[in-house]
Amino acid sequence: MVLVAGSANLDFVVRAPHIPAPGETVLGSAFQTFAGGKGANQAVACARAAGVATHMLLALGDDAFAPPIEASLQGAGVVLHTVRPSGVATGSAFVCVDDQAENAITVAPGANACLTAAHLPPLSGYSHLLMQLEIPLASVTAYALAAQAAGVQVVLNAAPAQPLLPALLATVDVLVVNEGELRALVGMQGSIADGLAHLPCPSVVVTLGARGCVARVGSTFYAQTGFDVLAVDTTGAGDTFCGALVAALSQKTPMAHALHQASAAAALACTRMGAQSSIPTARALAEFLAQTLLPHGPARMEALRQYAGLA
Ligand code: RIB
Repeated sequence: MVLVAGSANLDFVVRAPHIPAPGETVLGSAFQTFAGGKGANQAVACARAAGVATHMLLALGDDAFAPPIEASLQGAGVVLHTVRPSGVATGSAFVCVDDQAENAITVAPGANACLTAAHLPPLSGYSHLLMQLEIPLASVTAYALAAQAAGVQVVLNAAPAQPLLPALLATVDVLVVNEGELRALVGMQGSIADGLAHLPCPSVVVTLGARGCVARVGSTFYAQTGFDVLAVDTTGAGDTFCGALVAALSQKTPMAHALHQASAAAALACTRMGAQSSIPTARALAEFLAQTLLPHGPARMEALRQYAGLA
């Protein structure tokens, strides 16, 4: 059983030809709202991947933004431990998605900022605790220390990027970052492989967008090339990867296969608009994998290994 502790936001999404530069106004097109937030997205992804029992600790306001988020999480089968601070708005995110499916996001944390160390539910029965960095860092650290003491595997998606104390990193069993977050964490100029080797966590995974991902478990390195899809919105793809990865690891799936599953789920999440709305079910993922022949030849794998400094 997996516990996700983290953020839940209502996403306000506008499509536009390009993401505005500072001082620029861009005329967009459709406006939609979606259930989002890195924590909630990852909880939905975990629950939908092979029906792994998933609970979530989250904070919501007593306002009209909360019900769509609760409905989305509960619809995916996530069991909620909800904190409701009074007089605080539900978290919200302002997302611009451009014609290349890339996004720029600004988050107003609202209730997410109210999660404290005291809110962590009892940890018995959980194999993994999955967290991100959209709730206070002090709470993330307290939860991680409690999980470590209880023998629960700590998985941290260090997003959005921020400096982390060694005391927190020392609790993390599996760290998941993108390339920018990795460089921010280790302040490195060198290769991705150097960055992976530099971090003290037993397992580190770096997602590399359409290229795929690489990982280190102990002293063993893995590479997984990306799946080709027609991307319309990459929002939540990284979260889908994290949730699907932890679902697989919680079922004792070996890392190489867990990376394969998570990469396929993340690719599928790019084919639809929205965060939680785009996360595939286990059935959709199985159908996609059945239809998808080997997505690439050895040249693509070689290019990924060279990019990451593994070749
Ligand atoms: O990772 C995507 C998510 O980041 C969005 O759903 C938004 O809410 C922000 O938390």
